[in-house]
Amino acid sequence: MAKWLNGEKAIVTGAASGIGKATALKFAEEGATIGLIDINPEGLEETLQEVEALGSQGYIEAVDVSDAEKLAVSIDQLIEKLQGIDILVCNAGINGTWASIEKLEIAEWQRTLQTNLTSTFVSVKSVVPVMKEKGGKIVITSSINGNRIYNNFGASAYSTTKAGQVAFMKMAALELARFNIRVNAVCPGAIDTQINASTTITEDAQEVAIKVEFPEGSRPLKDESGKPEQVASVIAFLASNDSANVTGTELYVDGAESLL
Ligand code: NAI
Repeated sequence: MAKWLNGEKAIVTGAASGIGKATALKFAEEGATIGLIDINPEGLEETLQEVEALGSQGYIEAVDVSDAEKLAVSIDQLIEKLQGIDILVCNAGINGTWASIEKLEIAEWQRTLQTNLTSTFVSVKSVVPVMKEKGGKIVITSSINGNRIYNNFGASAYSTTKAGQVAFMKMAALELARFNIRVNAVCPGAIDTQINASTTITEDAQEVAIKVEFPEGSRPLKDESGKPEQVASVIAFLASNDSANVTGTELYVDGAESLL
């Protein structure tokens, strides 16, 4: 069977762990060359080795995506090493601090917005001048939070970034369609990754929670969390020419958990 991404050049942020790592490995299997971005240099090195073991080529940039200027420089350097770019996956993200609005520090709010949302804007802005020349594909990792569910109490900053990513994706899809740049998002439900390590839940977040009774029984499709690979394969589809007429769309990868 023909590979989905043969010869394509991709950049994936948050590639040291979870969904970003699974995406990099899926892209490698599908024949892409990949620029890997993350704040964690050891994790990046491990992903690079696995990418190479799959017979693909990769380049790494250890950078904090919340630093807009450094992120833009890293993306430029990867585009230079890749000698172009066809695919961008804006995936790096944190849950950040979950607290009541009253107690959430402005600095924490800003850290979550800069890491999840501003980095998405900066990444897209950085690839547009090159992608404009022959088209491209952009996929943003959003979430069911902020789009279909609002019951993670205290996660107002996180949910705002995830809603903002989908709104930005739709604006970008329209603006960039004339250049044949497609922009889509995935909205995962609960996925087994290291995301909880980036979460601080304060006691007062529990105090503002509304006590609701969830329906008894199992999750609709399968009674367990999703796997990063299940998100990665949807990202690969959106990055491939098999989704050539799909743009401005968010795709839920949650086994219908957010419909309950
Ligand atoms: P993860 O924690 O396993 O991976 C996130 C990666 O992003 C890590 O390698 C981390 O080092 C990197 N990262 C975090 N902050 C960074 C920064 N400032 N600069 C550069 N890299 C940074 O988590 P996961 O779950 O793979 O998260 C990926 C995306 O998926 C996030 O945007 C998250 O919001 C989203 N998501 C995750 C869900 C889940 O249940 N795991 C559900 C819905 C969305």
